[in-house]
Amino acid sequence: MHSSAVSSFSGPVITPASKPIIRKPTAASMELKLTKPDDWHLHLRDGDLLQAVLPHTASSFGRAIVMPNLKPPITTTAAAVAYRDSILGALPTGSGFDPLMTLYLTDNTSPEEIELARRSGVVFAVKLYPAGATTNSQDGVTDIFGKCIPVLEQMIEHSMPLLVHGEVTDPKVDTFDRERVFIETILAPLIQKLPQLKVVMEHITTMEAVKFVESCTEGSVAATVTPQHLLLNRNSLFQGGLQPHNYCLPVLKRETHRQAIVKAVTSGSKRFFLGTDSAPHERQKKECSCGCAGIYSAPIALSLYAKVFEEAGALDKLEAFTSFNGPDFYGLQRNTSKIVLRRSPWRVPDSYQFKSGEIVPMFAGETLEWLPSTD
Ligand code: DOR
Ligand code: ZN
Repeated sequence: MHSSAVSSFSGPVITPASKPIIRKPTAASMELKLTKPDDWHLHLRDGDLLQAVLPHTASSFGRAIVMPNLKPPITTTAAAVAYRDSILGALPTGSGFDPLMTLYLTDNTSPEEIELARRSGVVFAVKLYPAGATTNSQDGVTDIFGKCIPVLEQMIEHSMPLLVHGEVTDPKVDTFDRERVFIETILAPLIQKLPQLKVVMEHITTMEAVKFVESCTEGSVAATVTPQHLLLNRNSLFQGGLQPHNYCLPVLKRETHRQAIVKAVTSGSKRFFLGTDSAPHERQKKECSCGCAGIYSAPIALSLYAKVFEEAGALDKLEAFTSFNGPDFYGLQRNTSKIVLRRSPWRVPDSYQFKSGEIVPMFAGETLEWLPSTD
């Protein structure tokens, strides 16, 4: 399925197993100059894996909302501050990348913890994982209405957004329906009960999620959108055999859902912004009898978003999606520096090697049109 990588490991920083082919721009080539984007949904992991993946994000994004589903999860401000320090310590020299930290909501999170989080100046949101929904979610919330209302009220006080993994976990609900049922049974009633709560519906996958977000108050409810949910449908899981590197949660959906999401993000709406959900797992943890959910897109994400907007004839709307809508929603300054994407075909490496193994990126071995400049 994937050719094996041949590249010697030469240090803690990740190296492509096969170098991208970089061609000189031709007369017909184009350049896109964008305000530096941010990634509003990112998994950075820790240890070797953090060292390996961080340079990919830091080279083309100014900031990222860093997800807290580590082992153990980041449930306190103190843990978030320590995790942030380890991220800063792993950054390439001279990088100005700014990690925006999050707390992992549990049934026992206290309102005082939210107070501490806001005062820290480095925690920007709280992540809701329904218990059992995805990777390292076993400590997540079992009963949001029964256990979390005082915490959510405190978040309203501090304008701290709730970032939602929107899937029910009831095994009786079909995997492909879990997002829709979550909206009907949890999210809509929650927003009705707490209309002041700022909510980001993360990695939306369905037309129902698009419609729901569009029906809410602008500036109060928004959604992040991943490259995979814009470019792939559920056929990609099975084409030519089982494709573990296209497996993520929420799982890819039907083509009609993909089209609805593309239409929404390329419409110019401010309610949708870039969140890769780049989620690296070592190759063996994907290619095994019980493979992990997660698609590694950090090194190619900007190229993929540009592809989506170009194919929709909406390149003029790309910058708002990558660089304006997110900070505007979070009440943060937009970045001031720029990044250039060149129309210059390049080959996505088959894998990236690091100390403890290798990571296979999304679209491994395929050719992409837009090549981002790096710092
Ligand atoms: O595919 C996913 N991978 N979805 C998630 O919600 C978590 C993520 C991970 O951390 O691996
Ligand atoms: Zn995620």
